[in-house]
Amino acid sequence: MYSFKELVADFANKFASQHFPKVPGSLYEPCDYFLSIGGKRIRPILCLMGNELFDSIQPEAYDVAIAIELFHNFTLIHDDIMDDASLRRGLETVHVKYNPSTALLAGDVMLIKSYEYIHKVGGNHIHKILQLFNKTAKEVCEGQQLDMDFEKQQNVSLNEYIKMITLKTSVLLAASLEMGAVLGGAGEGNCNHLYEFGKNLGIAFQIQDDYLDAFGDPKKFGKEVGGDIKQNKKTFLLLHALEVASPSQKLQLEKLMAENPANKIEQVLEIYTSCKVNEWANTLKEQYLQTALEHLESIAVVASRKAPLKELADYLIQREV
Ligand code: IPE
Ligand code: IPE
Ligand code: MG
Ligand code: MG
Ligand code: MG
Repeated sequence: MYSFKELVADFANKFASQHFPKVPGSLYEPCDYFLSIGGKRIRPILCLMGNELFDSIQPEAYDVAIAIELFHNFTLIHDDIMDDASLRRGLETVHVKYNPSTALLAGDVMLIKSYEYIHKVGGNHIHKILQLFNKTAKEVCEGQQLDMDFEKQQNVSLNEYIKMITLKTSVLLAASLEMGAVLGGAGEGNCNHLYEFGKNLGIAFQIQDDYLDAFGDPKKFGKEVGGDIKQNKKTFLLLHALEVASPSQKLQLEKLMAENPANKIEQVLEIYTSCKVNEWANTLKEQYLQTALEHLESIAVVASRKAPLKELADYLIQREV
């Protein structure tokens, strides 16, 4: 079996090949740019781990892993337009470096390329893989729309937030694992537990992402710190602060969101800190991680095969990037 580190190197090798033609360069150069500037490659690794949980890694699992990473990159290019984000992986976002129309098309063509890789899956499994891929892709769109709707919505509950991040982020992690497992010949019960493991882990992953968006180290994080605050994103940080802040802090938060002053980010961060959002982040992450691990426990394979997934789970919720 491969360790987490070995899988990262193995996938990087497979993914390094040229995915796009050269012409027209005005379309494909931005695609190559975005794929070349890094990324943790978590989702394809999950697909490979889901596959290797049940069998030695099959060639088709690499095709699906590549499809998933291309799909993820498509969502990021479009997400950066929606979030008006200028920085990604430490470099300029595609719509800033090129222009928004090109970024839309670069994302579109990446999505189509992703389906070409899915199409390489042969007879037995293609139906299930395509069905899961399409369901997940639609859910990501739903989550992304809710994320934007919430920017304008005053009262968002913790449950609504969890539902939104489940759709925009965690179902793709869950489906990546399950697609790997399907190709590995896993039965329905094991697939369901693996999906739930990924879904709960994915929620903890997005909680960490939202935490880092406010408190990450700008040098490591690679995205504009405070971007969510700037956009009035209804993250758990804001929801928690609105719940536990003093009446005057609450008023101040509402004013900052309505008026967008120049020092908004620092002021909101100050309130977050005084509301101890970091403790709440840890409580929430721990809760979802535990549920995830219970599902991993329930999968009927020998415990030693689950070690890489446990290692990945620990890394994902502690990460600084
Ligand atoms: C960013 O995902 C988008 C989220 C769902 C939080 P990653 O943090 O996996 O981004 P890269 O691919 O490593 O850059
Ligand atoms: C993005 O969530 C989720 C998808 C791309 C589907 P975020 O907007 O929080 O991701 P980042 O922080 O820009 O990577
Ligand atoms: Mg974003
Ligand atoms: Mg977003
Ligand atoms: Mg984010």
